[in-house]
Amino acid sequence: MKEPQANSRRSFLKNISMASISMAALPAGVGAAVKTRTQDEATLACNATTLDYYGQGPFYSANPPMISNGLLAGPSEPGTRIIISGRVMNLDCTEAIANAEIDIWHANDAGQYDNSGYNLRGKVLANAQGFYSFETIWPGKYLNGNQYRPSHIHFKISAPGFSTLTTQLYFQGDSSIPADAAASISSGVYDASSRIISLSQNSNGKYEGTWDVVVDAQGVPLGIDSLHLNKGIIYSASPNPFWEEIEINYGVFEKAKVSLLVFDMQGKEVANLKDLQHSPEKYSAIWNPPANLPSGLYFVALKVNDMQVHYLKIARKSS
Ligand SMILES: [Fe+2]
Repeated sequence: MKEPQANSRRSFLKNISMASISMAALPAGVGAAVKTRTQDEATLACNATTLDYYGQGPFYSANPPMISNGLLAGPSEPGTRIIISGRVMNLDCTEAIANAEIDIWHANDAGQYDNSGYNLRGKVLANAQGFYSFETIWPGKYLNGNQYRPSHIHFKISAPGFSTLTTQLYFQGDSSIPADAAASISSGVYDASSRIISLSQNSNGKYEGTWDVVVDAQGVPLGIDSLHLNKGIIYSASPNPFWEEIEINYGVFEKAKVSLLVFDMQGKEVANLKDLQHSPEKYSAIWNPPANLPSGLYFVALKVNDMQVHYLKIARKSS
């Protein structure tokens, strides 16, 4: 842990490379414009996840196994690899739903379900901060009457002690969405618009997407009363995926005590930069992870005055 220095980046990096800390931060530029978000924009970011009009559909098999190593699709499963991750939160996004059970199933690359076994069916648990992640293949399409259903992933999400949310996830740009009776709904209880996510290709050739889930449940308080994106935000992290170094660009919109934390998918803190005294400004933090940090997904969290205001998913390459 070290206070940010107002010196040049070169000497700064030299300084931290000799220190025992794993991360440090400095202002990203004098007079950099900081765009604040309104409270309305921050509040809009937290809406209850909607049901899918088609419910669970006809192909659900009860009691699927827990998936191992975050892989819903085995390495030899034909298809385009995709990684879906996000966070499960309560209705006003003030609490993380730790240990939420996420039951996932979808069609294979050819548009077929395994109705006799559990291929492409399984459960994953959200971690202590509510984060979840799984890797699978891009689901194929299948005919529903004379129309192809868009590619979709089915979910049942259960928080301990609360009712189960059954819904489906779709992907932006899918030409079958407009004609689909469920995916085309854009208002009301079955509004699918926040369940159509974008996927972008990472440097490993896999497609990644983020889907946060907001459910009527009680979880672990995050110490916030809204998303508070008006207090601070993580703009970007690059390169992402990273290997030896990653630069995290963030902004703080008020004079505050600020912390940056990195968690692994099990919720274990793997790096932190705590209790920085920051003025409203853009900042840049360089993290040089330990060489033995396993490859995979991590989350950077930004805390302002001990309130977690934003997070960003990052990934360490396998080499
Ligand atoms: Fe389906």
